[in-house]
Amino acid sequence: MSADMYREMILDLYENPLNHGELDPNTFSHEEDNPLCGDVVRIDVLLDEDKKIKDIKWSGDGCAISMASASLVTDHVKGMTIEEVMALDGQDAVDLLGVSNLSMGRVKCATLPVVVLKGGAATVQ
Ligand code: FES
Repeated sequence: MSADMYREMILDLYENPLNHGELDPNTFSHEEDNPLCGDVVRIDVLLDEDKKIKDIKWSGDGCAISMASASLVTDHVKGMTIEEVMALDGQDAVDLLGVSNLSMGRVKCATLPVVVLKGGAATVQ
């Protein structure tokens, strides 16, 4: 995809997010902010009996990059085990967005949903 197409995908996900909302009941719910801007992402996860992600929703307020990343990351981890989630890193989120030239500040935006998800997953390990 060209840079323009990625930009279009990010804006489209910002307007039509995937897995947006809240899960109740859930196995864990975790929220963190990006200390650079104060934007917040919360992720609710429901695990099945094998500790795999059965359902996942996110909510929050942030820039187009962090919100698009939340859509893509939550979609990517469906069916994963907690161990697989804990093995994710910020680069996975950047790769899902497909944008290669993000500034350091923007990398923090893209990474926020992974930080939130791992923060929650760590509580049920
Ligand atoms: Fe706040 Fe991107 S500017 S998460």
